[in-house]
Amino acid sequence: GEALVARITAGVATSHVPAIGATLDSGKAGEPYWRPVFAGYEFSKAWIAREKPDVVILVYNDHASAFSLELIPTFAIGCADEFAPADEGWGPRPVPVVQGHPELAWHLAERLILDEFDMTIVNRMDVDHGLTVPMSLMFGQPEAWPCKVIPLAVNVVQYPPPTGNRCYNLGKAIRRAVESFPLDLKVMVFGTGGMSHQLQGPRAGLINKVFDAAFMDQLIEHPAEQAKVPHIDYVREAGSEAIELVMWLVMRGALNDEVRVAHRFYHVPASNTAVGHIILENPGA
Ligand code: DHB
Ligand code: FE
Repeated sequence: GEALVARITAGVATSHVPAIGATLDSGKAGEPYWRPVFAGYEFSKAWIAREKPDVVILVYNDHASAFSLELIPTFAIGCADEFAPADEGWGPRPVPVVQGHPELAWHLAERLILDEFDMTIVNRMDVDHGLTVPMSLMFGQPEAWPCKVIPLAVNVVQYPPPTGNRCYNLGKAIRRAVESFPLDLKVMVFGTGGMSHQLQGPRAGLINKVFDAAFMDQLIEHPAEQAKVPHIDYVREAGSEAIELVMWLVMRGALNDEVRVAHRFYHVPASNTAVGHIILENPGA
């Protein structure tokens, strides 16, 4: 019969606002301000509980928790057995330790590097809200996370971050690598960050709903066109931290050209940002 290999069944994109984690951890998700934010993830939690990925490749950025200006990898892949929640200043979030998948992570590192993406291999790394908030939004508050996670950190903090096109092509390379892993694994790719937001300076609090909607449309329908958009457009139109959106392009690159939109959600405000979220399925996978 057909050789069994790993496959990418779906991609998830979501903002990773730290206040969302703090709200869940302090039992305040039912407050009127927050209820509409969490309502947007009710479908998602039921969907992923049904779909049951074996492994999530979680594309996020570290916010000076594991790395600092002393060490700035453009792309870093976590190959460890596990990853503890980082102390972001108020102690680590009370969420489970993330279980890695070292075999697939090392396979990805090998294939990606030989495919000319120079990944930094990380064997010890704490993970901050960029990773843990999307986990909480998708999986709720379990005793243990229900799947393995391979953290893939992208530098979007210190200029220059990778281009959108580089991120999109990394997604394509991730797909090639996953599909050459000889185990029958159901893999999903998460892209996190965004949407429009700026956290400092005179434009702090900037939100651009028109930009955000157009970004989601283009990401779904014309990702190769979206990949050509330069950094300055994100930053000028949607705020300095909107550059995090290039990480959604990694997720999109790992999927078929034509995808099925299972879910789409957008809400303003959450803390200082617009929250965006989509679930895209690879038909037939
Ligand atoms: C905030 C921080 C983030 O990293 C982010 O993506 C969104 C919001 C914040 O501090 O509010
Ligand atoms: Fe962030």
